[in-house]
Amino acid sequence: MAVRVAIKLGGGLISDKSSMKKFNPDAVERVVDTIFTISELGVSIILVHGAGSFGHLLAKKWKIADGMKTEISKSQREAVEKIRSDMRELNGLIIEKFEERGLSCIGHPPSEWATGTGAQFMGDISVFEREVGEQIPVTFGDVVETDDEREFGILSGDDLMFRLSTELEVTHSIFLIGDAEGVMSGPPSEDGSKLITHLGSETEMEGAHNADIDVTGGIRLKIDRAREIAKEVDEVWIIDGRKPNRILEILTSGQTKGTKILRG
Ligand code: IPE
Repeated sequence: MAVRVAIKLGGGLISDKSSMKKFNPDAVERVVDTIFTISELGVSIILVHGAGSFGHLLAKKWKIADGMKTEISKSQREAVEKIRSDMRELNGLIIEKFEERGLSCIGHPPSEWATGTGAQFMGDISVFEREVGEQIPVTFGDVVETDDEREFGILSGDDLMFRLSTELEVTHSIFLIGDAEGVMSGPPSEDGSKLITHLGSETEMEGAHNADIDVTGGIRLKIDRAREIAKEVDEVWIIDGRKPNRILEILTSGQTKGTKILRG
């Protein structure tokens, strides 16, 4: 079976999460280098990226994830437009890094084609099904319309990963995070937190969700979606995006340092 990989660049990897719109070009360049190598190997690639400080800070301030609130709807609508444009800007910065390396990409902002939030969001994902050698499709967490009284909500890149990975015959689904080697047994910053190398449905862990900044659920949401994906895709991993060469190790040897999500 042809190798098709869906890769998510987490917001904490590509930006400094706590500092408004602070892009991390070095981290993206390192990922681009690895993706260049795997594309040379003839692997079909689908890219998703998170928001980091290009999305979460304003979304948190204006409670965008909760949907429309009548008292502040005008400010919320302005914030929605601003977040969408900030996310396109981030998407542009990322695509630029790929193009500098000679990899042609095409951005698909969810606000244009997706409705609803969560893993069951609606939208035609057939444009992400590409042949090797064509432009690499890139999408990202975004503010989308909902067809209920909320009017808008936040569609996470983790939800996009779920549908793209389970509906497009992806062989590998890889989440790159920015602050740890993979899923840890406790908060990454705490001494004694250990890397969980294999995560099954019984594995105990207390994943940190930095609710101060994060509006979509942090590592918890990633683990939930990764577990759902693992029911259909054999190779599902959460790994350290600061060492993107590990993507190559997964593709070539089936092993690397990080967390492999087990089926069931
Ligand atoms: C969040 O997307 C989108 C917005 C806040 C607009 P993600 O959930 O994919 O983002 P990260 O990876 O946590 O930053």
